[in-house]
Amino acid sequence: MNVLVVGSGGREHALCWQLAASPLLGALWCAPGNAGIENEATCVALDPLDFDGLVSFCREKAIDFVVVGPEAPLCAGLVDRLDADGIAAFGPRAAAARIEGSKGFMKDLCARHGVPTAAYRRAASLADAEAFIAAQGAPIVVKADGLAGGKGVVLAETEDEALDAARAALDGAFGEAGVELVIEEMLDGEEASYFALVDGETVLPLETAQDHKAVGDGDTGPNTGGMGAYSPASAMTPALCEEARTRIVEPLVRGMAQEGTPYNGVFYAGLMLTADGPKLLEVNARFGDPECQVLLLRLKSDLLAALMAAHDGELGDFDLRWRDEAALCVVLATEGYPGDYEKGSPIRGIDAAEALEDVTVFHAGTAHGDAGVVAAGGRVLGVTALGSGVAAAQRLAYDAVDRIDWPEGFCRRDIGWRAV
Ligand code: AMP
Ligand code: GLY
Repeated sequence: MNVLVVGSGGREHALCWQLAASPLLGALWCAPGNAGIENEATCVALDPLDFDGLVSFCREKAIDFVVVGPEAPLCAGLVDRLDADGIAAFGPRAAAARIEGSKGFMKDLCARHGVPTAAYRRAASLADAEAFIAAQGAPIVVKADGLAGGKGVVLAETEDEALDAARAALDGAFGEAGVELVIEEMLDGEEASYFALVDGETVLPLETAQDHKAVGDGDTGPNTGGMGAYSPASAMTPALCEEARTRIVEPLVRGMAQEGTPYNGVFYAGLMLTADGPKLLEVNARFGDPECQVLLLRLKSDLLAALMAAHDGELGDFDLRWRDEAALCVVLATEGYPGDYEKGSPIRGIDAAEALEDVTVFHAGTAHGDAGVVAAGGRVLGVTALGSGVAAAQRLAYDAVDRIDWPEGFCRRDIGWRAV
C-alpha cells in the first residue's frame, strides 16, 4: 500500500517510523515532513491545508491510505474531501473533529449523553459571559470555543480576571476561535490522559501516557504543546482506564454514531481526576504530541493495519500488543519557546545520541542547513528511550540528550518525575 502522512512534527515522525516497518507498506510519503522524517519517507512540500494539492498528489502517486496527524486539517475537513475523491484516510471527518474544534460542541455533546464534565455555559456576548460569571463566582475558567493552539484557556482566580479574559477573547485576541466562549466551573484534581482508537463504534484502548505541558522544571512557567512524555502513566490505573472508557469515551462515541456523525480516529480524552471521579476537560481528535512518540515506541503490532481497521470499522476483531518496557521522551526546544525564538541554529550529535541502543530521536522542527540539520521550530527534537521502567528510560533518554550539541536549545531535566 502507498501511504501519505500529513503533518511535520514529532508525532508525524513517530507515525512514519512505525508505518515504515509495516509489512503492508509500499511507498511512504509525508507532506510536508521535516529533516528527520526524510529517513523514513519521501517528503513533499505540500501544506496540510492545501486540499487540492493533496488530492492531486494522492492521484499522481496512487496513494491508498492517508494518515492525518494534526487537528487543523481534520477540523477543516481533509478526511471528508479525500473520501469524496475516493481516497481512504485515517482520522475523523469534520463533523466529528468538532469535538476538538469547538469546545461548546464538546460540552453540549457531554450534556446530551450524560458524560461527566465541568458545569458550563456557552457565551457569544459579554452580557452572557457576565451573567454566568456572576452566577457561578470565581475561581472560574474562560475558554475560546475554537482552536487556539492551546492558548485560549484562562484559569481566572477572580471574577474581574474572568471578565477581562472574556472581553479580550470576544475582542478578537484569538481571532475566529474566540467569537464564542465556553465558561466553566474550575475543577480540582490531578490531570491525566486516556487514549483509544475508535472505528465509529468500537473503542480500542491504547496504552497509557502522560505529557508535561509546563515549560520549566517542577511544572513551572507557561504552558507549551508538551515538553516531554512517558508511558506507562501510573496515574491511569486499570480501574480509572475502565471508568474513562465506560463512562466517558463509549457514551460519546455511541452518541456521535446515533447523531449521524460517527467518530473514527484517535480519541484523546484530557481528564481531571476529581474527588467525584474522572471528568472530561477536553478531547483531541488526534494523537498527542509528544505522547505519540512514547506510545508508538512501545507498540509491537502493525500500526498500519490498526489504523486501517479504525477506518474500516473493524476494530472489534482487533488486538494491540505492546512492549513491557517503559518509554520516555525529552523534548529539546529552541531557547525562547513558547515565546519568540530564532530559527536556523545548527544541531550536532544526533547520530551520537541515536547510536545508543534503545534510543530514537524523533524530529519535530528541523530542516537541512548548509552544514547539516538546523532548528526550524519551537519544539525541535524528541529524544525517546526505552527502559525496563520509567526510571531506566529516563536515565537513557538524558544520556542521549547529553550527546546532542546544540547551544541554542534547552530541555526540562525532570521528565517523568511523577513516575520515578
Ligand atoms: P483545555 O484546552 O480545555 O484542556 O484546557 C487547557 C488546560 O487548562 C487543561 O489542561 C487544564 O490544565 C486547564 N483546565 C481546563 N479546564 C479546566 C477546568 N474546568 N478546571 C480546571 N482546570 C482546567
Ligand atoms: N501534548 C498535548 C497535545 O498534543 O495536545
